[in-house]
Amino acid sequence: MLRDSFGRVATDLRVSLTDKCNLRCSYCMPPEGLDWLPNAQLLTADEVVRLVTIGVERLGITEVRYTGGEPLLRRELADIVARTTALRPRPQVSLTTNGIGLARTAGALAAAGLDRVNVSLDTLDRDTFKRLAHRDRLPDVLDGLAAAHHAGLRPVKVNAVLMRDVNRHEAVPLLRWCLERGYELRFIEQMPLDAQHGWSRDNMVTADEILELLSGSFDLTPDDAEERGSAPAERFLVDGGPARVGVIGSVTRPFCAACDRVRLTADGQIRNCLFAREESDLKSALRAGAGDDELAERWIAAVAGKRAGHGIDDPAFLQPARPMSAIGG
Ligand code: GTP
Ligand code: 5AD
Ligand code: SF4
Repeated sequence: MLRDSFGRVATDLRVSLTDKCNLRCSYCMPPEGLDWLPNAQLLTADEVVRLVTIGVERLGITEVRYTGGEPLLRRELADIVARTTALRPRPQVSLTTNGIGLARTAGALAAAGLDRVNVSLDTLDRDTFKRLAHRDRLPDVLDGLAAAHHAGLRPVKVNAVLMRDVNRHEAVPLLRWCLERGYELRFIEQMPLDAQHGWSRDNMVTADEILELLSGSFDLTPDDAEERGSAPAERFLVDGGPARVGVIGSVTRPFCAACDRVRLTADGQIRNCLFAREESDLKSALRAGAGDDELAERWIAAVAGKRAGHGIDDPAFLQPARPMSAIGG
């Protein structure tokens, strides 16, 4: 079991498969991109599956989410998913993606056993998308969403980061659009995880502000039917339900006390928190010939040292050395 010194148990493993991306969302990376990890430093598909297997079979991992960067850029994704869903006890397997390429791959991913997908979509306006993501790919994302829904990767969740002066005014239309299609929309507070270090508290659209924006057009009631548990999203019934909307207030309404996550980066480092200061190098141990017992022990030790929370409100807060695209979203 992966237990930290506060008694939290990590059961949800988020695996980044690449730090590369085909978009350049301004809250994540600069228009020119970043210095990507050299391929030799990325875990191979076999190495990913070996570590995930240790997590599931020995350490109590019950949910595996593949992320990036953009995970669809890994050609072996469907194979990795198939090998993950074949593990026993079978973990829940999901994907967080920007949606580009999903139109082509949703069927194969569903056939590989993928349970569901979360797709980032911050705007429905093509020009705004171009300005925000620095690529003219909105139609690909919308096609990807439709294909995922059609392939049965449900519930399809949509992630929207709201930014003042960019897409804040789209909160209501985005929710209407998702409700019409049966997608579950979650609005996300922007976190200080961008490579440019451009985050500021003043520019962040807060959970309170999001709820106020929405309540002008919808009747929102807290969804008490389901235990929230460790889920980052607070969910609300829209106009009495059954449709719901989520708000992920990572900064102003932190859920660290209930956190059940642990991360494996694309270059094989265990991170016990998005905002962790240290990583534990499983890849080097693995490539030096470590056995499963030793890898499991290193992993247990990495989680044991997890801190209480992200510390964004701490005056001494420092952004992690790596941006979110390299850590895994
Ligand atoms: P579901 O199980 O579908 O609810 O997944 P999720 O919401 O955890 O995953 P997703 O990859 O869609 O992440 C959505 C948002 O949750 C991210 O943009 C982050 O804002 C937030 N998030 C994910 N993981 C963490 C985490 O470990 N810590 C914090 N503070 N926020 C996180
Ligand atoms: N703050 C909040 N969410 C972010 N994402 C990427 N960067 C940030 C950030 N700085 C979101 C993406 C994706 C999810 C995994 O993380 O939009 O939906
Ligand atoms: Fe790519 Fe996701 Fe970063 Fe956007 S937020 S640039 S889609 S990794």
